[in-house]
Amino acid sequence: MRILALETSCDDTGVAVVEDGRRVLFSLTRSQVKLHSRYGGIVPEVAAREHLEVVFPLLELVLKKAGGIKKIDALAVTEGPGLVGSLLVGLNAAKTLAYLWGKKAFGVNHLQAHLYANWLGKKKRAEPKFPLLGLIVSGGHTDLVLMEKHGQFNFLGGTRDDAVGESFDKVARILGLGYPGGPLVEKTARGIKPAFSLPVPMQTPGYEVSLSGLKTAVLYAKKKGYPSRELAAAFQESILVMLANKLRGALRRYRVASLVLGGGVVANKPLRKRMQKIASEFGVKLFLPKSAYCLDNAAMIAGAAFFVGNSKHSWYNLSVKPSESITR
Ligand code: KG4
Ligand code: ZN
Repeated sequence: MRILALETSCDDTGVAVVEDGRRVLFSLTRSQVKLHSRYGGIVPEVAAREHLEVVFPLLELVLKKAGGIKKIDALAVTEGPGLVGSLLVGLNAAKTLAYLWGKKAFGVNHLQAHLYANWLGKKKRAEPKFPLLGLIVSGGHTDLVLMEKHGQFNFLGGTRDDAVGESFDKVARILGLGYPGGPLVEKTARGIKPAFSLPVPMQTPGYEVSLSGLKTAVLYAKKKGYPSRELAAAFQESILVMLANKLRGALRRYRVASLVLGGGVVANKPLRKRMQKIASEFGVKLFLPKSAYCLDNAAMIAGAAFFVGNSKHSWYNLSVKPSESITR
């Protein structure tokens, strides 16, 4: 089944065509980073307007490459979570097209889709096996889930305050590194071995995390004159130790076949390396999406639509769900 998907939940506009949830035929993503960088963060209204400018030209390009609407079996679109104005642009486009073209239309949860990025590729490759432990580390979410089959998400824990990506972005601002924070913190920290360490958040058992304390620790240390490069490295290390602790706890408790990660922060190279270490400690197979599929993209939305779908796949049932969780 060929699914044409739209993703406009935040500040990336994505359009893609994916076959059977795996083979990415075309995937285009247009980032708005330049547009928002002068404000030091995403301005929701600016994001929504830009999606509106970009989504149809992208759609036209992808459809042309795909051989037109006749080659498409169904549409998919992100319903949530995300910024309401941004979500509305993609959703309304998909809804209108599904109505006009008489196609099925799947409403997709963006967080579930981040995990389904692990099934994507141009060539056939090994796939995650169930039961699996899934970890989403994105700009807005830090979610640990257990999956025993497609579409079943048992929520184990998440963040009480800032998500991991959000804390990278806030720390980058504190350190004066600019926007977007994640890649800049990674770059600044590269090769630096700090002479001090920062607290590791939530050393308690359980899968919840709280990152606001670590962010405040960075703020105070910066005010005391600690150098930004060392602070960036110490901050990143505290995050990695915290994630590793939580995963080790979960892997001890639950016997799983695969460890599956997703979300923008998974583009972080030290994080990818640390995850490999944990997976080999426990003898589980690790799955990390390619960097392009860690960040927001429409291919993962098509993937999730294929595997999770839903029985109400008419344009009529599509609606924005700005604050829905991974369990929907
Ligand atoms: O998944 P994503 O593209 O959007 C959301 O669904 O939120 O994640 C964006 C987040 C941002 O907070 C960004 O700073 C972070 O992912 N990020 C990174 C890196 N690349 C993106 N964080 C750490 N290291 C990176 N290389
Ligand atoms: Zn995302």
